Amino acid sequence: MKTWLVTGGAGFIGSNFVLAERKLGKTRVVNLDRLTYAGNPLNLEELRDDPHHIFIHGDIGNSSLVRQLLRDHRPSAVLNFAAESHVDRSIVGPEDFIQTNVVSTFRLLEAIRHYWEELPGAEKEAFRLLHVSTDEVYGSLKPEDAPFHEATPYAPNSPYSASKAASDHLVRAYFHTFGLPTLTTNCSNNYGPKQFPEKLIPLMVLNGISGKPLPIYGDGQNVRDWLYVEDHCKALRLVVERGRLGEVYNIGGKCEKTNLEVIRVICSILDELFPDSCYKPHASLVTFVKDRAGHDRRYAIDSSKMERELGWQAQETFESGIRKTVRWYLEHPGWVESVQTGAYREWVRRHYGEQKLNTGH
Ligand code: NAD
Ligand code: TYD
Repeated sequence: MKTWLVTGGAGFIGSNFVLAERKLGKTRVVNLDRLTYAGNPLNLEELRDDPHHIFIHGDIGNSSLVRQLLRDHRPSAVLNFAAESHVDRSIVGPEDFIQTNVVSTFRLLEAIRHYWEELPGAEKEAFRLLHVSTDEVYGSLKPEDAPFHEATPYAPNSPYSASKAASDHLVRAYFHTFGLPTLTTNCSNNYGPKQFPEKLIPLMVLNGISGKPLPIYGDGQNVRDWLYVEDHCKALRLVVERGRLGEVYNIGGKCEKTNLEVIRVICSILDELFPDSCYKPHASLVTFVKDRAGHDRRYAIDSSKMERELGWQAQETFESGIRKTVRWYLEHPGWVESVQTGAYREWVRRHYGEQKLNTGH
């Protein structure tokens, strides 16, 4: 059985990826995660007795730990999901983003380079590093612009996207300078089970259920291109197994929606699932709040390279994916409670402040 080192595998996308991989049963997974507020061991509960999932609590920037893990487990691929991932947090406190997404990612690259350089011929040939990144590195589109493609110039606008852009550039440089067999993916907004409820969709679902305001930044007309997380995970598996070395692959859902459209769909699902709720119609909970600083207007991804070269296509429609997602949050109250810790509430209070608390719901 081959071994892959997955970093950030206790977070939203990483844990969905690890669970899917273990379900397929062909890969042993060593999972290195620092368990920040976004990393949740409950995400990996199903793997508690799985001998082929080895969880290591640690930082990708801990060079001696990473080197030892590489030596001990000899992975044939590393998939790097570990990152600080929330734009709003990067506005309030950019330093953690620079630390993890730039400095620690650089250290991870160095550790991998040393490991890879010493691998014997066939193993060296087969090794891959897949760096998981975001479409936000390309900046913001105007309504009439074509979607982002792999050659779209980088123009990051938030500390989050700037730090991810920096890591993408480092990965690119390690391919060109050292020949490290890298692959980079830039994906659009994901949604699905286990997403931390600071992000739009889970926040709206959980606030809606409990009759709290649904805070929409600005005019609610910002557009995101939504992709169900399992489709992203399938794309990543294809890229790591069949992607061309040094290449970038854009992954998106062909599913552009304004934030208001997304929230209206969630509200109508909640109306349907809770016909007797005193919060019905849930859309009445919508509350317009101050816009995010530097808020990107529109993201959209052109995934034709993924389709052409790797035969990938998103399988989930937004209509079915959003229903599955809402149901998942309803059916996992223990998980929801675990993430709604004091630290989480403190963040919500600091971030949304009085605008959210004083709306009377
Ligand atoms: P997440 O915040 O849910 O999870 C990140 C995980 O990384 C957490 O488990 C956290 O504990 C871990 N982590 C953070 N810093 C670490 C460090 N220094 N060392 C080890 N582990 C660390 O994020 P996510 O939404 O699952 O995103 C995963 C990756 O995919 C990120 O690189 C992100 O930029 C990228 N991405 C996310 C989206 C999206 O919509 N969520 C879209 C495109 C790309
Ligand atoms: P988010 O889920 O934070 O993802 P990203 O900023 O990485 O795209 O936000 C998605 C969109 O929803 C974005 O345009 C900001 C908006 N948004 C709100 O309107 N209200 C909120 O409370 C949040 C968290 C996001």
